[in-house]
Amino acid sequence: MGRSKNLPLSFYFSLRYVILFIRMRILQMRVENWQFSDESAKKMKTEVIRIQQENLTQEEEEALRQAGEVLKNGGLVAFPTETVYGLGGDALNRESSRKIYAAKGRPSDNPLIIHISRFEDIYPIVTEVPEAAKKLAQSFWPGPLTMILPKSERVPYETTGGLDTVAVRMPSHPVARKLIAYGGGYVAAPSANTSGKPSPTVARYVQEDMAGRIDVIIDGGEVGIGLESTIIDLTVNPPQILRPGYITREMLQQVLDKVDTDVTILSGESGQAPKAPGMKYRHYAPQGELTIVMGTPEAVVEYINRHAAEDKANGEKTGIIGTEEVLGRYRADVIKSVGSRNDEESIGRHLYTILREFDDENVTKIYSEGFTTEGYGQAIMNRLLKAAGHKVVTL
Ligand code: TXA
Ligand code: MG
Repeated sequence: MGRSKNLPLSFYFSLRYVILFIRMRILQMRVENWQFSDESAKKMKTEVIRIQQENLTQEEEEALRQAGEVLKNGGLVAFPTETVYGLGGDALNRESSRKIYAAKGRPSDNPLIIHISRFEDIYPIVTEVPEAAKKLAQSFWPGPLTMILPKSERVPYETTGGLDTVAVRMPSHPVARKLIAYGGGYVAAPSANTSGKPSPTVARYVQEDMAGRIDVIIDGGEVGIGLESTIIDLTVNPPQILRPGYITREMLQQVLDKVDTDVTILSGESGQAPKAPGMKYRHYAPQGELTIVMGTPEAVVEYINRHAAEDKANGEKTGIIGTEEVLGRYRADVIKSVGSRNDEESIGRHLYTILREFDDENVTKIYSEGFTTEGYGQAIMNRLLKAAGHKVVTL
């Protein structure tokens, strides 16, 4: 006792820092635990419910109501949306958000989108609904648009990855909207894939990644769009697109006067961090090495065929992502049509499924045609560039 009285004040300060450091380390270890408690999380029984039409039978309605109860009780339910399948948990329950990160193996600084089923439900989770948000909602909700707004105290930091802003989206898929309503109104849902894999466009891929890790999977058939929602940040002026999607910049500009685009969306070496934390991770990556080839159709076909032949001679299994218009001219082990150049929506819809199929078939070298970055092409190229780790050949 007597001795400690004589210790200098600075000793106590350093002691406080040591304790603080230890506490932070413990917290960090907990975070690591949610991410890597993979094997223990894999032992659950996952129920699969099929709901593939709009007019629900009484049984299907009841099944959805029960899935909503699972959410309310802190469980996880994967469900179809019009963009990609989501992995849902109660957005206002910090434990549910932690479980989502664990099930996906996702870094916990990567915030989740809160899904709502009615516009008025936005008010309790944000501190302010600017005029721009109302206008955008009127034009694009329900639909594939996510808005970033300042979060209210109701939203736990576990859901926003520690940020003071929150991402909100009202999906248009009827099953999604019913589930959200039954689940209490606020469903945090990232794409229902293991972190680093392409987002699932069919329930089969959700099952592949999530069976044994979550409570329920709702199989609603193939999604309509196939790429994740457009994200617009309304906390900055002018508003800024953080992730391109089906709702293009041109469409947004018809409602708001000026819209900026995060410069990192299409460039690999801007040296800047993307504003949406999730965009910095190497997403959507197939296991094979993917190269995008840009040029005239003639030159692209010639280049891809020549390189695929060389790779094959070196023992690689080769794959090509091509468009309908030139598909018959390719030569490789696996050739897949991503859609038609005259129908960009078909390309968006098939891209992730094709990347997954190349994994299923153990293709080791993949070549893809490139696309314009105008309009919806910006979203397509953004995903393709990430899948390729920005490996592009321009002829
Ligand atoms: O279409 C979609 O948006 C799908 C379906 C399921 O709704 N969801 C989806 O979620 O794509 P996820 O978690 O895979 O992607 C969410 C993206 C991430 O890049 C994340 O960093 C960003 O949104 N994000 C979320 N909250 C944010 C915030 N407060 N500020 C900036 N970016 C945010
Ligand atoms: Mg995702």
